[in-house]
Amino acid sequence: MAQLELLDVGHCYVPGEGEDRWALKPLTVTFEAGKTYALVGPSGCGKTTLLNILSGLVSPTRGRVLFDGADMTRRSTRERNIAQVFQFPVIYTSMTVYQNLAFPLECRNWDSRRIDAKVRTVAEALGLGDRLKEPARKLNADDKQLISLGRGLVRDDVAALLMDEPLTVIDPQLKFSLRRRIREISEQFRPTVIYVTHDQYEAMSFVEELLVMKDGQVMQQGTPEELFESPRSAYVGYFIGSPSMNFLDVTQDGSGVWLAGQRLAMSWQPPAARVPAEASGAGAAQAGVLQAGIRPEYVRLASAPGPNTFPARLQAVRDHGPLRVLHVEIGGQRLALKLAREAGVPHGDTLLVELPRAKVLPYVGGQLATVVAG
Ligand SMILES: Nc1ncnc2c1ncn2[C@@H]1O[C@H](COP(=O)(O)OP(=O)(O)OP(=O)(O)O)[C@@H](O)[C@H]1O
Ligand SMILES: [Mg+2]
Repeated sequence: MAQLELLDVGHCYVPGEGEDRWALKPLTVTFEAGKTYALVGPSGCGKTTLLNILSGLVSPTRGRVLFDGADMTRRSTRERNIAQVFQFPVIYTSMTVYQNLAFPLECRNWDSRRIDAKVRTVAEALGLGDRLKEPARKLNADDKQLISLGRGLVRDDVAALLMDEPLTVIDPQLKFSLRRRIREISEQFRPTVIYVTHDQYEAMSFVEELLVMKDGQVMQQGTPEELFESPRSAYVGYFIGSPSMNFLDVTQDGSGVWLAGQRLAMSWQPPAARVPAEASGAGAAQAGVLQAGIRPEYVRLASAPGPNTFPARLQAVRDHGPLRVLHVEIGGQRLALKLAREAGVPHGDTLLVELPRAKVLPYVGGQLATVVAG
């Protein structure tokens, strides 16, 4: 396993294109050795481009790629010693399951006993243990992708394991157990893992750090907890979590911050300078607009008026597994809150909701402003 670094790396597929349109805007990122990462973001944001630059399938327009400090920018995929698993199965249909799994190891001149032991361990972990003699062409799409995964996982000497939405074609029922198996195998060998997914739950359940991408940029890199607790932009607040984080327009005057004609206590320090327009992370937020951000998980129902309680109108109740999501309106603005199912659905359509001060985050122009304790 290796530490992977991108130093001021950017890429454009169309020669001469302005930098603001590049598929990957110049960025500097470090992936620590032995850690697992996910790249998440909407279609076209540059996840595959970033991954392919790491593996060497794409040569970046600008910048350098370092593995453990050594410059790999112009080195081939093979020289980088990367295992890559793609969205669709890449297997040899003329070979058996066993031969497919053994092939990457034979190419590296492992001795046959070591190959045999490794193939069997990985096949077992993926639930293919009793199918090793079957011809790969006879397998269904799920099982073919399992073999592709296995081919990525058999080599424990790789610098990194890169996976580009490997579970897309897998039956949803199987996904859960597969994620667990991938995690077990990667915990055993501790390769540096970079995993691309559209699915934030897949990412959150799986990795130590996420990189949330948008338009060829990394908006935030952090642990699942950091992204949940303090999204640096409204964009990340919207992208991570379900339902998304609430953002309420508030106003500010000399005496404080106001929401729907009532004082809202929140801990923040107004920025000294005006926030530039391009810093805006979310479509809904404009430069300079002050918003209060709070996760639906932290909004409470109050039984009596108190600090940061607001009258709200109940608009809809939705089932969310063991939880319920209430959609309410405060002074014409929508707010979602999550309640335990046992809490029941409140009677009547007028409620009192509490926005606990410690959980209300200040956003200016879509960017997290300085939070001051107190
Ligand atoms: N070979 C290519 N030639 C030209 N443009 C490309 C090429 N590959 C990707 N792009 C463009 O680069 C941008 C980033 O694409 P990329 O495939 O990296 O996104 P992605 O985040 O992996 O998307 P998805 O989630 O759909 O796989 C997109 O605008 C895409 O259209
Ligand atoms: Mg992609």
